[in-house]
Amino acid sequence: MTVTQYLADWRPYPFEITQTRLEFDIAPRATRVRSQIDFRRFGAGDLVLDGAGLRTLSLTIDGRALPLDLIREDDERLVIPAADLPASFTFAAEVEINPEANTALEGLYLSGGMFCTQCEAEGFRHITWYPDRPDVMAPFQVTINSDMPVLLSNGNPVSQAPGRAVWQDPWKKPAYLFALVAGDLRAISDSFTTMSGRKVALNVWVRPGDEGRAGYAMESLIRSMKWDEEVYGREYDLDVFNIVAVDDFNMGAMENKGLNIFNSKLVLATAETATDDDYERIEAVIGHEYFHNWTGNRITCRDWFQLCLKEGLTVFRDQQFTSDMRSAAVKRIRDVQTLRARQFREDAGPLAHPPRPDHYQEINNFYTATVYEKGAEVIGMLKRLVGDEGYRAALDLYFDRHDGQACTIEDWIAVFQDATGRDLTQFKRWYTDAGTPRLTLSEDWAEGRLTLNFSQDTAPTPGQADKPARVIPIALGLIGPNGDEVLPTTVLEMTEPSQSFSFDGLGARPVVSLLRGFSAPVTVSREICATEQALLLAHDTDPYARWQAGHDLALDGLIARATGHDGGEEFNRALAGVLTDATADPAFAALCLVLPGEEEIATTIAARGAIPDPDAIHAARRALMLDIATTHERALARLYDAMTQTGDYRPDAEGAARRSLRLACLAYLSRLDGGARAEALYKSATNMTERQGALEQLIATGRDKDALADFAAEFGGNRLVMDKWFMVQPLRTAPGNAVARTRELAARPDFDWKNPNRFRALIGGLTANHAAFHAADGSGYDFLAEWLMRLDPVNPQTTARMCSAFETISRYDSGRQALARAALVRIAALPGLSRNTAEMVTRILA
Ligand code: PHE
Ligand code: ZN
Repeated sequence: MTVTQYLADWRPYPFEITQTRLEFDIAPRATRVRSQIDFRRFGAGDLVLDGAGLRTLSLTIDGRALPLDLIREDDERLVIPAADLPASFTFAAEVEINPEANTALEGLYLSGGMFCTQCEAEGFRHITWYPDRPDVMAPFQVTINSDMPVLLSNGNPVSQAPGRAVWQDPWKKPAYLFALVAGDLRAISDSFTTMSGRKVALNVWVRPGDEGRAGYAMESLIRSMKWDEEVYGREYDLDVFNIVAVDDFNMGAMENKGLNIFNSKLVLATAETATDDDYERIEAVIGHEYFHNWTGNRITCRDWFQLCLKEGLTVFRDQQFTSDMRSAAVKRIRDVQTLRARQFREDAGPLAHPPRPDHYQEINNFYTATVYEKGAEVIGMLKRLVGDEGYRAALDLYFDRHDGQACTIEDWIAVFQDATGRDLTQFKRWYTDAGTPRLTLSEDWAEGRLTLNFSQDTAPTPGQADKPARVIPIALGLIGPNGDEVLPTTVLEMTEPSQSFSFDGLGARPVVSLLRGFSAPVTVSREICATEQALLLAHDTDPYARWQAGHDLALDGLIARATGHDGGEEFNRALAGVLTDATADPAFAALCLVLPGEEEIATTIAARGAIPDPDAIHAARRALMLDIATTHERALARLYDAMTQTGDYRPDAEGAARRSLRLACLAYLSRLDGGARAEALYKSATNMTERQGALEQLIATGRDKDALADFAAEFGGNRLVMDKWFMVQPLRTAPGNAVARTRELAARPDFDWKNPNRFRALIGGLTANHAAFHAADGSGYDFLAEWLMRLDPVNPQTTARMCSAFETISRYDSGRQALARAALVRIAALPGLSRNTAEMVTRILA
């Protein structure tokens, strides 16, 4: 039975909890959990508790036993009638759970011999009976009995004796922020003195032997704590902050109060084992989880429909943090790339939903690019509209007014209205309406006056046919024909379906540098010729808009080629300028050199109303790369040599920029030298960035045998590094061979598919190989379906999330569509299919 939850049905919980006490007797197959929860009546109604998969041994109210038949077979709710309850009472339960059998990685589970928990969103109900909803907050006291050497929970340690530890979290919190860890762990430790002078003990806990790989995570944590004080005035609020790395984890990391639990790939790094991207992500995610302490934990969500209240804001904050630590321009361009690749794609398909959805079946399916990344974009727009000072005032008010509360998007909008006096009624549509608006620009030019005629429209999305106009902040500048900026960045506020803006007194007709800084998450449709795009690429003062101009030029060329025309010559020519300036700004040059990916080309073709042909797109991209390589061979080769790694590897923005430019050049040069440079680089590389980059080119050129064997021999014992080995092969193998090769890899004994990282590496590597996954014979779809059906009974969350590979199928030809649908229908028919996967498949097939 599928139950849909509606935002409109939210009702306050009729009890508050003054104290939660938990005691765990840890054992792999039979962990005992004793709870004592002090309730106080708050409103009218029965006491309703959530539980799932619990073996209940006893239930009492104020020491009086309750009949166990209150719990019906496979019922996930315990209802105690209001009439049996005094105004204040203690509910106690003893239950038994089985961590070893918990392959779904939700609740208490075992990972590599250590016990750990994951409770967001609704995992706590797998631990004991509780009001498992974010608006019920309580202080927790936790006792852990276990012979494991390290026993951790939230808050501050009260007592630590061999076999027994007691933790007390003074800050009231919802159950989804509960965490417990028991294992044989080693810490790297440091401390941080907060702005009011309190000393906080910091630990990053890893498995014995991994201590040497956690230093960057610790440095990132210290930078995060300092940054949040300096930029948001937020201070940490406990005596200790613990981070634990685990190998089996469904997501990236989790912000449990005072005890963040991380996927080990977001903690462990050395130059030899982690790439520049890995380092940047570690810093960003350590920041993200730390920033949740205020935006998520001190102020949490009233219900799960409000998820973007904490996630959109915390992503926005981690983006600001990365911009400050590294390069703001590069960060913005990369964030736009991800937004387009993941969120625009979601918004254009059957899974489209607003940043604040109003219904769901399974909340775990809503940890999406829309909630996270678009949620962050919406805050970026708000900040642009109210200005930096208005933003700061609104945030101060938010922390002041709502500390200790469980809030809604309405509360969030109200602080902006109250702090700035602005009416945000129309702006709120960004939260409630799905879909990516299309902004169309046409221009009139006469006698020194430029008129810009904008219109906006948004295609219908599931359940939302009408799309009223939104507030769109349009940042733009004007560039004169000689390349000078004649109008610096100006923000226009569009509020109507169509609106015109004029600029007078211009000497010659300028080119509009539109949507500077990507000031709104919209697509743009405008008439602009290749010469004008090349002018912007050469002269725009806004780095994002400059990059976008080159990117659009390349995209237009690729689409022309993929649809049977000539194209790409202008981009090829414009690259001469980029290559000349490359040493001055290697990061920017690298971003310009990387052509739009096949997925983006397909998306754009579909958005223009045609049917994308994956094979033609693949061929077009290869052909343009070969043209570019041939035209610019000498410049590319010179740059490749100039960017040689000298001295020790440092995972900072400057070093990463040089390496990214070097690898961008290598991708072109490998088309000409058959992989000779890649082979040399593979052998000489002293860091994983270059090592992996070289390996990818060797796979793409089919010269990979020795390198792959060498890599496996060197890193066979390192799970995280071998994940890369499993990922690059399906991703970079020529489309015609990729499915077969992935099948072979899946048959290897070290394809430990129950580990989410390994599963995502191999299977996700294939789905990211556009032409391979969309093979005309359906072999990519069949392969994915086969593995999703195998994983679903083991790990529904990861299975459901990977179903989104199918979300674009309706844009392809009818042959491919039929094959993809048949694969989805097979998944839908799997006996015992999880609620998670069932919801995804149904939405995609709808
Ligand atoms: N709340 C986590 C984050 O954004 C993500 C997460 C969700 C982790 C659900 C685990 C489970 O940082
Ligand atoms: Zn988060």
